Amino acid sequence: MDKLWQGRFSENTAAAVEAFTASIQVDRRLYPYDIRGSIAHCRTLVKASIITQAEAAEIIAGLEQIKREIDEGQFRFDDSLEDIHMHIESRLIEVAGPVGRKLHTARSRNDQVALDVRMYLRVAVSGIMRQLHRLQEILVNLADRHIDLILPGYTHMQRAQPILLSHHLMAYFEMFARDTERLENCLQRIDVMPLGCAALAGTTHPIDRRYTAELLEFKAISANSIDAVSDRDFILEFLACAGICMVHFSRLSEELILWSTSEFNFIELPDAFATGSSIMPQKKNPDVPELVRGKAGLVIGNLTALLTMMKSLPLAYNRDMQEDKAPLFDTVDTLTACIGIYVEMLPEIKFNAKIMRRAASSGFLDATDMADYLVTRGMAFREAHQVVGAAVSYALENERELYQLSLTQLQSFSDLIGDDLYSFLETRQMIDRRKSEGGTSGATVRGAIAAAQKKLAQKLDKLPIFN
Ligand code: ARG
Repeated sequence: MDKLWQGRFSENTAAAVEAFTASIQVDRRLYPYDIRGSIAHCRTLVKASIITQAEAAEIIAGLEQIKREIDEGQFRFDDSLEDIHMHIESRLIEVAGPVGRKLHTARSRNDQVALDVRMYLRVAVSGIMRQLHRLQEILVNLADRHIDLILPGYTHMQRAQPILLSHHLMAYFEMFARDTERLENCLQRIDVMPLGCAALAGTTHPIDRRYTAELLEFKAISANSIDAVSDRDFILEFLACAGICMVHFSRLSEELILWSTSEFNFIELPDAFATGSSIMPQKKNPDVPELVRGKAGLVIGNLTALLTMMKSLPLAYNRDMQEDKAPLFDTVDTLTACIGIYVEMLPEIKFNAKIMRRAASSGFLDATDMADYLVTRGMAFREAHQVVGAAVSYALENERELYQLSLTQLQSFSDLIGDDLYSFLETRQMIDRRKSEGGTSGATVRGAIAAAQKKLAQKLDKLPIFN
């Protein structure tokens, strides 16, 4: 097929080169944005009196026809036409005739591809924000539903202090809330309109770039034409946001995997979200969280790939940058799939309340509180730490928990200890004493849940919408 840039060439492109340089299999999914961008560009050309209304009408009708052809799977894609921009423009010249050759005035593929990706990413990011909003609602609902469940909190993977399950779940709510904020912030830098910067230096044609931006509902236009065609920061930022979000998912996944082992047995994953082993009949494997944990590695890899690809690239556009799309699309697809499956799976998880509660009453989770008790009776904390350490060591030797020692045994460590220590060390009391802001007491966690519910409800109709 004759190329639109054939003019200065006397030989045809080698078939191997066509195949090697083509990006159409990857970038074809940009077509709705490419067409919408071209329609806006066409109107901008009319406004600048570069083409007539009648010519624009023919071009726009042609573009709309092409949109339908691609929508309906009637469009022929061909490596010799390189990318989605060339495909659409070539077809336009076929369907609209010679007037189609006027469309590419005052733009280049360099600003065109930047425009398409920005439009694509606006839609993708706003969709992901909506999904994350749903996920946060589910976490808050779970926390609300299981407000009385108690489990051990861990540090260094060692039992540390008793906490409310809801408090633990709300920790993930916070992570996903930050992910949403990051995306919203990133969206501001995605939502910048590059068209009209042309190849790199701007255009000699008297176009109104702000008009194009208005038609395409962009908040701003790029300020520097060289930067506009070289900048992929907005993709890098998105990949970083996605990478961090996947790290959160991988941590949650790891906990679900651990908690569903027979060693922990804190939860049961729904049958519908687990699979069996082909050889071991007893197995029920946590494949969904395992895959999410694995996919986090790939998303982080996509960020690394693109940072490395952009590193040291001279200004302005370089063909290397064509390689940005595969990692971008893969990241959007992976993150979307991971949020989607978690939204389905989380509400179906069964928590083994008794086992979690039992785990929280062994392993000296009350040691800090016993020290705190001594502090309330006037002992310095460092000294109390020592005293309780000695008591723990004694209890270990005697295979007892602290609260299982007799009053006489306890008093041998400090005469400040009274009978009231036992109720002081009750798990629920230990939890409810942690009333410091952000702590695990029932009252603070209920407050956090209520605040989160309010925040989510207010946010719902403020979520960005792009199409
Ligand atoms: N397919 C190209 C890309 O994705 C479009 C821009 C091509 N520009 C060029 N000067 N060859 O980056």
